[in-house]
Amino acid sequence: MITKNINIAIDTLNNNDVVAIPTETVYGLAGNAFSESALNKIFAVKKRPLFNPLIVHIKSIEQLESIAIEIPENAIKLAKYFWPGPLTLILKKNSAVSNLVTAGKPTVAVRVPNHPLTLSLLDSLQFPLAAPSANPFGSISPTSAKHDLNYFEKTIDVILDGGDCENGVESTIIGFEDNEPILYRHGSISIEEIELKIGKVKIHTNNNSNPNAPGMLSRHYSPSTSIYLTNNVTEIINSFYEKKIGLLMFKNKVIADEIIHQEILSENGDMKVAAQNLYAALHRLDNCNLDVIIAEKFPDKGLGKTINDRLERAAKKS
Ligand code: TXA
Ligand code: MG
Repeated sequence: MITKNINIAIDTLNNNDVVAIPTETVYGLAGNAFSESALNKIFAVKKRPLFNPLIVHIKSIEQLESIAIEIPENAIKLAKYFWPGPLTLILKKNSAVSNLVTAGKPTVAVRVPNHPLTLSLLDSLQFPLAAPSANPFGSISPTSAKHDLNYFEKTIDVILDGGDCENGVESTIIGFEDNEPILYRHGSISIEEIELKIGKVKIHTNNNSNPNAPGMLSRHYSPSTSIYLTNNVTEIINSFYEKKIGLLMFKNKVIADEIIHQEILSENGDMKVAAQNLYAALHRLDNCNLDVIIAEKFPDKGLGKTINDRLERAAKKS
C-alpha cells in the first residue's frame, strides 16, 4: 500500500518488517538497523548480495555515538555542515552494529536524511533505520512512491509517500583513511562543495572484484534498454538506422524522425534540476519499448560529475 500515514510505517518497522521511505535523494528500503530479521528482509526483497553493506539512517548527529567510534574531526565538520542532508560518512563501527549491515567491514555508512516525513519517523522509533535505495539490485533508483510500487508491489506491504525526491540522485559518500578524506561515491553534494569545507579529497579507485563501495560496481543504475552515452548525439542517432530511439538530453532538444521519446533534463541548463529529473526520465524511457536510449554526456563539473557517473554505469554492458 502507498500511504502518507506515518503511524502505519511506525507499526510495520516496530514489527521488524520493511517500509519504503522517502528521502531527499532517492527512496530507501528501510528496516530496524538493530534487527537481524529486518536486515535479512532488506537483502532478500532487494535481491542484494550480502557483500554490499547498507547505510544506517539516524535522526541527528547526537545519535552517531550509538553507531560509530573514533570519528575524525573532518567527519564532524562535514556532518555539522551538511546534516540533515545528502552526505554519507563511512566511519569505524561500534560493536552494536551488526556485521550484516556492514557486510563484515569494520566500518559503517551513516547519514541523517533530510525529509520531514522520514525525520519524524526516525524521531518516533527507538532504533536507526538501515536503508539501501529501494530498487532491485543493479536497477534504476526510485525517486517517487510510484517507482517503489512498480518494483515491489508484490514483496512489500508499506510505501511511505513523501512525494518526488528533491535531489534525485544518491548521497555523496565520504570515508577516511588515516584521517585523510576519500570520496567513495559522487552524489548529490558535489566534490567541489565538500572540498570547500575540508580541503582536497582523494577519489577512491575501485575494481569490480573487490569493490569497497559496491555502488561503485561498474554496471549499476541500469534500465533494461541499452544505453549509449556520448558527446555526439547526432552521430550516434545516425548509426542506429531504423531503430526505435529514445533520447536523454541535458538542455537542447534534437529534431529527428527516428526519435520515439525524448527527455530534456533541464531546459535552462540547471544541473540541480537535471539531477532531480534524471532517474524519473530513465524510468520513463525504459517504459517506452525502445531499441536504444542515447544519453548526452554532461559537463564534467559539479553535479555533472555525478550524473555522468550514473550514466556511465547505466551504459556499461556488464
Ligand atoms: O542517498 C542515499 O544514500 C540512499 C538513501 C536511501 O539514503 N541510499 C543509498 O543506499 O544509495 P545504497 O545501498 O543504494 O548505496 C549505499 C552505498 C553502496 O554503494 C555501499 O557499498 C556503500 O554505500 N557502503 C555502505 N557501507 C559501506 C562501507 N562500510 N564502506 C564503504 N562503502 C559502503
Ligand atoms: Mg543503490
